[in-house]
Amino acid sequence: MENKNVVFLNHPLIQHKISMLRDEKTGTNEFRKLVEEIAVLMGYEALRDLPVEDVEVKTPIETCKTPMLSGKKLVVVPILRAGLGMMNGMLTLVPSAKVGHIGLSRNEKTHQAEEYYCKMPDSLDQRQIVIVDPMLATGGSAVSAVDFIKKRGGKNIKFMCIIAAPEGVEVLTKAHPDVKLFIGHLDRCLNENAYICPGLGDAGDRIFGTN
Ligand code: PRP
Ligand code: URA
Repeated sequence: MENKNVVFLNHPLIQHKISMLRDEKTGTNEFRKLVEEIAVLMGYEALRDLPVEDVEVKTPIETCKTPMLSGKKLVVVPILRAGLGMMNGMLTLVPSAKVGHIGLSRNEKTHQAEEYYCKMPDSLDQRQIVIVDPMLATGGSAVSAVDFIKKRGGKNIKFMCIIAAPEGVEVLTKAHPDVKLFIGHLDRCLNENAYICPGLGDAGDRIFGTN
């Protein structure tokens, strides 16, 4: 899968924590913490190219020009529900970020993403947008989320997921080749219910303790 817009974040800490997430014995509390920690580690890499500008700061010694984030505030967009698990990790990195929400749910029979909620900040066209969702399976939810954001003017979009299936990567990169994709681990395939194998099961249920 050679594509400069698809980045695999194979840092040992990310891989170790993903292995802990996969374990069916990992309970809700620990699962939630791990998802948040992984989001911090992945976000640090995914935000490497945030724009900065030199600003004047007076230290106790002298005045200097030193870089700070520039431009309009970043937007983090968790895809509800499971994406919420990654939101605080991103806000740890960029506390001033705005948050847009997209509610999408996969229809259990058709596996198609169905939208039930959306609220976005203004001026999306001038902001870096990072969509977060732990799972990229068929790619339906990711493509719908990007379609949705682009319709509202969003241009500079990244998508960050913890585990992806090859099928989802193919669908998302074909539909939106301009979107930069950050992946924690590329798994083997989807099963007949469109779950990722080996995956970690249903991310939303494991984060929120439902089933
Ligand atoms: C999960 C996951 C993604 C989606 C991925 O959400 O969090 O949003 O499935 O699957 P796809 O690539 O085939 O679209 P789900 O629909 O289970 O909703 P939930 O987060 O509310 O549990
Ligand atoms: N959504 C999940 O939460 N898990 C999968 O394996 C696929 C979609």
